[in-house]
Amino acid sequence: MMRMVDVIAKKRDGGKLTAEEIKFFIQGYTRGAIPDYQASSLAMAIYFQDMDDDERADLTMAMVESGDQIDLSEIEGIKVDKHSTGGVGDTTTLVLAPLVAALDIPVAKMSGRGLGHTGGTIDKLEAVEGFHVEISDEEFVRLVNEDKVAVIGQTGNLTPADKKLYALRDVTGTVNSIPLIASSIMSKKIAAGSDAIVLDVKTGAGAFMKTDEEAEKLAHAMVKIGNNVGRRTMAIISDMSQPLGYAIGNALEVKEAIETLRGEGPEDLTELVLTLGSQMVVLGGGAKTLEEAREKLQDVIDNGQALEKFRTFLTNQGGNGDVVDDVTLLPQASYKIEVPARQTGTVSSIVADEIGIASMLLGAGRATKEDVIDLAVGLMLRKKVGDKVEEGESLVTIYANREDVEEVKNKIYDNIEISDAAQAPKLIHTIITE
Ligand code: URA
Ligand code: CA
Repeated sequence: MMRMVDVIAKKRDGGKLTAEEIKFFIQGYTRGAIPDYQASSLAMAIYFQDMDDDERADLTMAMVESGDQIDLSEIEGIKVDKHSTGGVGDTTTLVLAPLVAALDIPVAKMSGRGLGHTGGTIDKLEAVEGFHVEISDEEFVRLVNEDKVAVIGQTGNLTPADKKLYALRDVTGTVNSIPLIASSIMSKKIAAGSDAIVLDVKTGAGAFMKTDEEAEKLAHAMVKIGNNVGRRTMAIISDMSQPLGYAIGNALEVKEAIETLRGEGPEDLTELVLTLGSQMVVLGGGAKTLEEAREKLQDVIDNGQALEKFRTFLTNQGGNGDVVDDVTLLPQASYKIEVPARQTGTVSSIVADEIGIASMLLGAGRATKEDVIDLAVGLMLRKKVGDKVEEGESLVTIYANREDVEEVKNKIYDNIEISDAAQAPKLIHTIITE
């Protein structure tokens, strides 16, 4: 009979775990037969001894098999999903879903609400009056088959092993391990059912991975896992030292998404969307090369089809599609308060995560699951790193539903630096196709 203590000792001594040993651990831990203290001991052994490619793939699939797996087989075509390791003001999904669908690549998106600086993709979309994700599985499949894009709320019991293990790692100093992070993220994407996966791994102050080196290691690990278990996977490393785009807030980001789909969005958001979108189109079989895919995406932005796809998508799920012509239909904040620069110079840093917290203080995001989001509030950056600014010119506009925003203002001043000179950071650091 297999014993957990032997599995732990083997990994402690640098051994390679078999698929059976990994399954034994994951299955036993999920049903409660293996206690937390043994699981945390193994996690620590993995932290120090690492896992090879086989072990990483086996761990991922064991976690996938610990719960439900979404069956998207009734949707025609190659279903491509996108995952971002998380950033501030990351509006990419709102733009990418209709943009890629406009090229007839099916986007069957399962999404969540979650905690953070702003809401999740679903919260943001709910800023559009009437839009909802409470649709049946049949309706979801029908919409994607007909119009190539739909979003449904997280359903079912996906990767319970990951849920339990992640919570344990959080309190045992074992979060920061490449094999554990990579298998955790990939298990969730694989259980969600897509055939191919595009990953946006962020680096910088606002990101989970603070350095390029760490981000690249994680990206390569995830791409390898995906390809080893039969899901074609690509990744990019992108900058999150400052927030993406200008908008940080739910309705504000929907407005920014509409502008971007119209070809009038912020430069960085547009570039990121075209880069990730190109990978999705190639994986989805819509183009042979990234260059060809990019041209096609640019075409549907230029000819209005991407924006029309967004309208169809919103309308299909009960939303008022007129917002694409008239963004004033989105929830509006009562107060707009400028934050003027205190000196002349060049913006040299905008600390992404702290600016995200400023937005959360206004009510744009949740600190706990019970918090109610105010969809109208948030921040609009008026300057980005590398921009020149005159004393008195606005750095940020605060959209608030209360007059007293001193705390938010102070946080913004503390986290935007103005110097003599600075350059805009490079947005796309690396493109990983295998
Ligand atoms: N995000 C995840 O989903 N899992 C990890 O382990 C780390 C970050
Ligand atoms: Ca944004």
